[in-house]
Amino acid sequence: MTTATAPGKIILFGEHAAVYGQPAIALPLSDKQATVKVEDAADRITLLLPNLATSYVLESEPNSADGDVPLVAALRLAQAAANVAQLPPLTITVDSTIPIAGGMGSGAATAAALIRAVLQHLGISADNQLISSLTYEVERLHHGTPSGIDNTVVSTNQAVWFVKQAPENLIEPIVIGAPFRLLIADTGIRSATKDVVGDVRRQWQANSEYFDSLFGRCGRLARRARVALNAGNLLELGALMTLNHVQLRRMSVSSRELDDLVDNALKAGALGAKLSGAGRGGIMLALVDSEKEETVREALEETGATSIWHSEVAAG
Ligand code: PMV
Repeated sequence: MTTATAPGKIILFGEHAAVYGQPAIALPLSDKQATVKVEDAADRITLLLPNLATSYVLESEPNSADGDVPLVAALRLAQAAANVAQLPPLTITVDSTIPIAGGMGSGAATAAALIRAVLQHLGISADNQLISSLTYEVERLHHGTPSGIDNTVVSTNQAVWFVKQAPENLIEPIVIGAPFRLLIADTGIRSATKDVVGDVRRQWQANSEYFDSLFGRCGRLARRARVALNAGNLLELGALMTLNHVQLRRMSVSSRELDDLVDNALKAGALGAKLSGAGRGGIMLALVDSEKEETVREALEETGATSIWHSEVAAG
């Protein structure tokens, strides 16, 4: 039996602007992860997705319908990378504690863990770079033109500075000078990243000067945030998060629910707050200190958050 895991992720700075080449900062979530188990089986290939109460029985060779299910596509990409024409009988079980479609990288993490586990089980050694690029291919199938942040963070399990650029994205590890804690609140509203990214693109095409200036501001905030993270300056970090939220509102990717959560977290004493990910639903982040954490959590609950998670980001 072979097991592999991959963490969830959050974008701390630079969502949307990252699609246009501005820097973004993203973090792995140590306490939310996808786990994939691969076992030899007697006579068929079964992909079990207990979180979705679904399973698939698959052919040993790829077929044209495989692209419809992202995790089947992930399996076929691993098969191709391993150069195996016919997969042996296997039972593949995908388990995840990452909320689905909530902007926490669940799709990328399950794909990365599956690709890693299958390659390992087939005896192929794969570095993070290979896992990341295969995961990117899976992401492309259902996200359109993802920037590449999700696959990078879930494959490296590291806080990253990410700049989308040709011929290769710039990816640097980020030094975190002091530990900090985030509350992650879910609006309970789901929106497709692809649609929100497409809508921002239409607005940018119609009004490119204004949108370029918003993206540029997000980039400058991310640069300052990297310095604040290095120095462990949490007051500055919080202020920058809140300013990033203002830019995202201007891009029209926030929503009343997200704005209310951000405003009420700040009123309750959060050091900073912003939406995270594609927006129009999904999640928001509040940077809190230990004294205010409980008050902020209560405010988020009262505002209508459907789930609230606590995440510790370690120094390092
Ligand atoms: O909602 P998520 O976690 O898929 O994040 C989307 C982030 C965007 O910057 C909006 C798109 C991207 O591919 O980077």
